[in-house]
Amino acid sequence: MAFSNSFSFAFCFCFSVILLSFYANATDVSHDGRAITIDGKRRLLLSGSIHYPRSTPQMWPDLIKKSKEGGLDTIETYVFWNVHEPVRRQYDFTGNLDLVRFLKTVQDEGLYAVLRIGPYVCAEWNYGGLPVWLHNLPGCEIRTANDVYMNEMKNFTTLIVDMMKKEKLFASQGGPIIIAQIENEYGNVQSYYGDAGKAYMNWCANFAESLDIGVPWIMCQQSDAPQPMSQDVDRKLDLILRFKSWGGKDPLRTAEDLAFSVARFFQLGGTFQNYYMYHGGTNFDRTAAAYVTTTYDYDAPLDEYGNLNQPKWGHLKELHQILKSLEYTLTHGNVTTTNFDNSVSATVYATNESSSCFLGNANSTTDATITFQGNTYTIPAWSVSILPDCKTEGYNTAKVNTQTTVKVKVGNKAEDEPESLAWLWRPETIDDTRILAKGEITANQLLDQKVAGDDASDYLWYMTSVHLKKDDPIWSKNMTLRVNGTGFILHAYVNGEYVGSQWAQYNVYNYVFEKSVKLHPGKNIISLLSATVGFPNYGGGFEEIKTGISGPVVLVGQNGDETVIKDLSAHKWSYKVGLHGLKNKLFSTDSRYATKWSTENLPVNRMLTWYKATFKAPLGTDPVVVDLQGLGKGHAWINGHSIGRYWPSYLSYDTDCSLDACDYRGTYDNNKCSFNCGNPTQRWYHVPRSFMEKGENAFVLFEEFGGNPSLVNFQTIQVGTVCAHAYEKHTVELACEGRPISAIKFASFGNPQGICGSFEKGSCDSGRALSILKKARMRGQGEMLDQRF
Ligand SMILES: *[C@@H]1O[C@H](CO)[C@@H](O)[C@H](O)[C@H]1NC(C)=O
Ligand SMILES: *[C@@H]1O[C@H](CO)[C@@H](O)[C@H](O)[C@H]1NC(C)=O
Ligand SMILES: *[C@@H]1O[C@H](CO)[C@@H](O)[C@H](O)[C@H]1NC(C)=O
Ligand SMILES: *[C@@H]1O[C@H](CO)[C@@H](O)[C@H](O)[C@H]1NC(C)=O
Ligand SMILES: *[C@@H]1O[C@H](CO)[C@@H](O)[C@H](O)[C@H]1NC(C)=O
Ligand SMILES: *[C@@H]1O[C@H](CO)[C@@H](O)[C@H](O)[C@H]1NC(C)=O
Repeated sequence: MAFSNSFSFAFCFCFSVILLSFYANATDVSHDGRAITIDGKRRLLLSGSIHYPRSTPQMWPDLIKKSKEGGLDTIETYVFWNVHEPVRRQYDFTGNLDLVRFLKTVQDEGLYAVLRIGPYVCAEWNYGGLPVWLHNLPGCEIRTANDVYMNEMKNFTTLIVDMMKKEKLFASQGGPIIIAQIENEYGNVQSYYGDAGKAYMNWCANFAESLDIGVPWIMCQQSDAPQPMSQDVDRKLDLILRFKSWGGKDPLRTAEDLAFSVARFFQLGGTFQNYYMYHGGTNFDRTAAAYVTTTYDYDAPLDEYGNLNQPKWGHLKELHQILKSLEYTLTHGNVTTTNFDNSVSATVYATNESSSCFLGNANSTTDATITFQGNTYTIPAWSVSILPDCKTEGYNTAKVNTQTTVKVKVGNKAEDEPESLAWLWRPETIDDTRILAKGEITANQLLDQKVAGDDASDYLWYMTSVHLKKDDPIWSKNMTLRVNGTGFILHAYVNGEYVGSQWAQYNVYNYVFEKSVKLHPGKNIISLLSATVGFPNYGGGFEEIKTGISGPVVLVGQNGDETVIKDLSAHKWSYKVGLHGLKNKLFSTDSRYATKWSTENLPVNRMLTWYKATFKAPLGTDPVVVDLQGLGKGHAWINGHSIGRYWPSYLSYDTDCSLDACDYRGTYDNNKCSFNCGNPTQRWYHVPRSFMEKGENAFVLFEEFGGNPSLVNFQTIQVGTVCAHAYEKHTVELACEGRPISAIKFASFGNPQGICGSFEKGSCDSGRALSILKKARMRGQGEMLDQRF
């Protein structure tokens, strides 16, 4: 099969839905070409993605409650095959993999669920959610008409469906699941698989139907869905925010632009919309796809820790409320659209009883003033106004009436905690990598890391020996070792001595390592430690993209003008999966090495080093993060729970960042409104409260590159500042999430300029606003302000 190693981080998303034909005796959920119907009623549905393994069961009730309060009626999740079946026929549905508990939490809040089983899911998830053991099953070809693959897909999908049925979780059984999905976005890659791809799609459709779940199945991005899928609907949209890669910037999609996209979708006839993501969360452990950061915050309406991301959450909540109030009209009304100049349009939804209108201005620079049904309206550039009665503006996407909340990270130690952590350390033992015998597998070729490692670890040692005589043609004073590798990192050792490292940049995948080495006559051992940072998850043939030391591995000797190359690629290579410390569970509190740590000569900037400290959980209930500034790259654990890979030494590219306020107008793209250029891609790492215990907690780091742990400390995330802009005839509520207001810094009644944290008075200002507000605060909070400014 042909494939290329070029690698692009395309985003996984989906904007069309294809429904299977309906079921004879279970028709609670259906679709009539215009909208999903539930119990025969057309519905306007607002859905948001929350992936259960990206948070903890302790966080789920709050996340789902806040989703409901934010106006969602549906929670969407993928199902993540490779974490549920890490070893073939060995399953895990415990802790944050407890899918049933997650769906019951959704049900307890009275929300619907969309279950995207896949089981290929993309999702910036390691290997797109497929277990790497599939890749290594004899005869298996992934995501195509291949019996081995289809049999495994059938086995897992059936397991999930049976589990849902047993718990009565399908809507047809009274459960929350209104829609299920088979495969994912196959239309984007089908041409890569040719006719076999078509056959596979047919098989998927028939197989899904045979599972008889009583609710519609969907596919995603599949414009030529096979029978018995009906090509019905183009009424669903995954609204994409942005994720982050190592070396990438922090994305920001403004509340105004997000609301514009949503309102526009409903103006144009949409009835079912999904936010990808509503809560992004965290890529714990090794679940992130190739080069995707541990944080999966996504700048979503709920932030990584589950806090409201304001003003986004609140601004969308108001939009959801107004859309829901128009549910009947938008799903039944006759639609008439009138176009004005400069990308301005008016859409009327009319039923016999009532009419509702959208006024949209898709011009990214110019505000519009139009006369519509006898009245004059001003529509700011890149905004949509919603007129529930076709007369009065009830909502405009560019007018944010919600507070902006600026969060701060605060050092917050439990009592009696010392200023800084007291570290212990251990070296990662690499002695046995200089004697060949220790490998678990040998082969006379360079193996793909998926084949040799089976995704048991990020780390794989490649070891070989080279016998050199002094009269060998390659023998020279200046010999170099050259290694071509892929995805992502190499640390090279010769005879136990570290020679150097090399790694691929984001979006490049391949690297070439070249360093001069000192070999001696006789036997020399070359040990290459390859480290993955997740496997690719997207694109035709992504599953075959090579990982590890792809080769060639050569020695280059320079004898005068003559270059002699000795290719070691077909030598006997010995492979060792993982690290000693991982095998011996140094991160775990019950490791047999638990006491064998040293306090002596704490090393700094030492590669392949384990560090350990104990700490007490920060006070209170605010979310906790650990600041890993000063460290290089590695992995971190709290009481044996992985909090993921860390890589604070990887700085974000320092170009194209938005310096000041972000202009919400214009089509959103990758480079718009990003920030954090030049800083560590990810400095803070989420430590869920449920990972910590009362009393002492164990914190373990495996430092791969070398770093200085002395600055590492735990912090909590709190509300720092809140700001709001009140438009005429609107009420704004400010809240500090239970904290008292300590000071009022700025207030202006007029036309103030700037953004939260740096407001300035404009040309018009009443002069009294600040003193009135300050007085009101002194009189007590919670009091209504009813003052003439
Ligand atoms: C999955 O495969 C196992 C054997 O590996 C078999 O016992 C089980 O019945 C299969 N499950 C389904 C639903 O086919
Ligand atoms: C936006 O408005 C400006 C000024 O009225 C006009 O020149 C431009 O063509 C408009 N752009 C679009 C895409 O309508
Ligand atoms: C909607 O359109 C239908 C068909 O054109 C028409 O019969 C009906 O009167 C319209 N209803 C309204 C409220 O405009
Ligand atoms: C709306 O009114 C038209 C004409 O009076 C009628 O034919 C139609 O059935 C009505 N539609 C609904 C949904 O009541
Ligand atoms: C050794 O060879 C490499 C290129 O193969 C060259 O870059 C390097 O300068 C040489 N070193 C010495 C000491 O000659
Ligand atoms: C390996 O790297 C060398 C040096 O950059 C390059 O010329 C060669 O094409 C690479 N080989 C492969 C198979 O990628």
